[in-house]
Amino acid sequence: QAFFKPIHSAAPPSPTKRHTKISVIGAGNVGMAIAQTILTQDLADELVLVDAKAEKLRGEMLDLQHAAAFLPRTKIIASVDYSVTSGSDLCIVTAGARQIQDESRLNLLQRNVALFQKIIPPLAQYSPESILLIVSNPVDVLTYVAWKISGFPSNRVIGSGTNLDSSRFRFLIADHLDVSAQDVQAFIVGEHGDSSVALWSSISVGGVPILSFLEKQQIAYEKETLANIHKAVIGGAYEVISLKGYTSWAIGYSVANLARSILRNQRKIHPISVLARGFYGIEGGDLFLSLPAQLGRVGVLGVANVHLTDEEAQQLRESAKTILEVQNQLKI
Ligand code: NAD
Ligand code: LAC
Repeated sequence: QAFFKPIHSAAPPSPTKRHTKISVIGAGNVGMAIAQTILTQDLADELVLVDAKAEKLRGEMLDLQHAAAFLPRTKIIASVDYSVTSGSDLCIVTAGARQIQDESRLNLLQRNVALFQKIIPPLAQYSPESILLIVSNPVDVLTYVAWKISGFPSNRVIGSGTNLDSSRFRFLIADHLDVSAQDVQAFIVGEHGDSSVALWSSISVGGVPILSFLEKQQIAYEKETLANIHKAVIGGAYEVISLKGYTSWAIGYSVANLARSILRNQRKIHPISVLARGFYGIEGGDLFLSLPAQLGRVGVLGVANVHLTDEEAQQLRESAKTILEVQNQLKI
């Protein structure tokens, strides 16, 4: 017998009410930080975890389920079998090797490509309409790999890219100026990694272009300070890895932020890894790198036409070249 007696006059569920399902592949540090941020932000009706290690996976699932009394209701399931991901709206891939101290992201490539050859086909098979959001490193090249293997249109294959680097950047600028990071509009574009590009020319604080803001606040504009902030963005992940072994909380928030824009059709602009050929003079082949792109329910809606100085555009093309050089060694 049902716990609740049905109310006879109750209307049937509206066919337009959407059920939102997110699958997170890889239940390691990053996957679990993403999962828990998604839960606290009430972004899904169903959250699926997949990992290759069955026991650890079940432990993580139970641990999250035990928080049910403190969270909005979300069905949480986990399995080593990809059939549980069936019908996902968003598949977030975090599985794979991570850097050890002082190792570059690009060094992880070969190991993680082999993994993607196992992971992407069943995801594409069970959720042919989903959006793939790639987080595993090197994220730009692996987003290209996921696009190739899945056969999905490029608007539905996205890399978390420099959404995280841009948050680090905004934090450091905000800290320097003693303002809120949410009032700092600033983009890091290009590779999520050592060749990333800081777009100084388009930064604004509370709507005021940064250089005139510094002038108004009588803060001396020092080129060296700005260069050091960009260096700190690039070095940030290496520092965290050398201190705690991995990065997790900031990427958790960064990816939940992207999931919200996609699933709630926010049409917000994020620096994320997208198919970049043809934008800002990037040529030489298909590749993914971060550009300021608009996100909605169908994935990438377009790339914003942010003004770049000649120097910034040149640096962006150099970053593209770095990615292509690595990518051209791949056999998929
Ligand atoms: P981790 O070792 O804690 O977790 C990786 C997980 O992948 C493990 O639980 C492992 O069992 C699982 N896995 C391995 N093979 C699998 C398979 N075939 N199917 C399913 N799961 C499988 O590592 P982490 O710290 O969570 O990092 C994960 C990845 O995310 C790394 O590549 C790391 O470099 C990357 N990362 C990216 C960003 C970013 O901004 N893009 C930020 C942080 C970390
Ligand atoms: C990051 C990872 C390591 O935190 O790519 O930037």
